[in-house]
Amino acid sequence: MQTRVIRWSKSEGYDIMELREAARIIRYGGLVAFPTETVYGLGCDGRKSEAAAKVYEAKGRPSDNPLILHIADREMLDGLVGEIPEVAEKLIETFWPGPMTLVFTKSDAVPDEVTGGLKTVAVRMPAHAGAAELIREAGVPIAAPSANLSGKPSPTDAKHVIEDLDGRIDMIIDGGEVGIGYESTIIDVTGLRPAILRPGFITKEMIEEVIGNGGEVDAVIDSSDSAANEAPRAPGMKYKHYSPDADVTVVRGEEAQVEEKIKELTRQFPAEEVGVLTTDERKYIYDRGYVLSIGSEREHTLGQTLYASLREFDHLGVKKVYAETFFGNDKEDALMNRLMKAAGGQVVDLRNYDKVIFVCKENLNLSPMCEWILKSIITNKSFEICSRGLVVLFEEPINAKIISVLGKHCVPCEEQVSKQLKQSDIDEHTLIITMSFTEKVKVIEDYGVSDHVFTLRELVGLEDDVNDPYGGEEQAYEETYSELKDLLFEVKKRMGWV
Ligand code: TXA
Ligand code: MG
Repeated sequence: MQTRVIRWSKSEGYDIMELREAARIIRYGGLVAFPTETVYGLGCDGRKSEAAAKVYEAKGRPSDNPLILHIADREMLDGLVGEIPEVAEKLIETFWPGPMTLVFTKSDAVPDEVTGGLKTVAVRMPAHAGAAELIREAGVPIAAPSANLSGKPSPTDAKHVIEDLDGRIDMIIDGGEVGIGYESTIIDVTGLRPAILRPGFITKEMIEEVIGNGGEVDAVIDSSDSAANEAPRAPGMKYKHYSPDADVTVVRGEEAQVEEKIKELTRQFPAEEVGVLTTDERKYIYDRGYVLSIGSEREHTLGQTLYASLREFDHLGVKKVYAETFFGNDKEDALMNRLMKAAGGQVVDLRNYDKVIFVCKENLNLSPMCEWILKSIITNKSFEICSRGLVVLFEEPINAKIISVLGKHCVPCEEQVSKQLKQSDIDEHTLIITMSFTEKVKVIEDYGVSDHVFTLRELVGLEDDVNDPYGGEEQAYEETYSELKDLLFEVKKRMGWV
């Protein structure tokens, strides 16, 4: 198949004849790749199952992985979805058009092939002027996954689309480099609370601000992490993603430590086979191998060149890439999510702990629950996990409600008695995780530990203490369980534990 390439420019837009041709291809069941503000999409008529089948084939993508429908205006939404919850209205008003995808219950107009058989459908209204014009001209919702071969990084420039799909699709619209550089935030609004299924440019904080007081977002940061017995919530997340040919390892720790370690690691490879992934600002501190950037911290463009750099390493024939950790900025969830996928979870963790102790006041509720949840989600048991209390006057069995809640979620736990935290429990390789700030201060003051003690929420970049369900009904323990589980999955990811 001959793939035609046409151009869309920021200042001049489309040649009208070419735009009509692109729209006609879509309406007649063909495939057109087009730019959006996040990444390039591979579009087809979202009402046609045969067109969706072609998309899967061109990408080499499993057909149970659902597509996102792209719309140009609010009227297009109404025919595609069932109920539009109030919280969705608020999000739409603020973030559409823009890099946000919402998951709704679907209407019969959406073929099962588009949603991979799901009863829900993902919809996004892109802010990119060229994308919007194409959808409007086609007059139909455009179903589009990212326009890359399955398993390759998403395309952020038309040249990446050409690389992957030339000869496999009808047309490519070249709109130059995209602005954001990674895929939209996906939010499921079909449940009681909106849930983030894939982090993106629209952050959890931005969403919470719009949802208003008391509006909490269930951060299912990466559904592929969810316990094996739960169905993945964004089916696409279960597949290996975003991976370049080069082997990527993330190096994590303090900034200076990371720099020193990356310099040491890159010396072990021939310079032409090794690469470093950093930011525009830090590019100049490395002097060996190919040093590429994910964007600029100062210009707020972090992530813009992440995928382009991963592709570039492959073109350069780089075999091994060391990536810095990109924490401490507002897009860190999205960036680390993509990077950890590119790395297939490979991490050099410079903070080497051989013991993790969860600490709460009495070692009866929160800390034992954390102990057993973490034990159940870590497969590589290279460190010890236990829990202790700060004020254990006499040893008592841990709360029976906890054993019952853990049992319901199939988290193995043993009946145990509460234990006092002792000085001899702690050395320099011990990570202490407290449930509250007060407990943290007490550990620092009474045990003289300052470096390796954090509150659980602090470890994942959040403020406040974890609520103690003590004295509450079993439902309160259920809620605590689900909060602790989410936090511990996130800790696990950030620490590079497997
Ligand atoms: O920024 C973006 O979202 C880009 C541009 C082109 O719009 N598109 C994109 O599409 O990233 P794709 O196919 O690469 O990723 C779509 C993700 C997949 O992880 C898929 O599982 C999830 O959306 N998804 C689609 N429909 C869903 C549904 N009904 N429920 C849950 N997840 C869904
Ligand atoms: Mg994709």
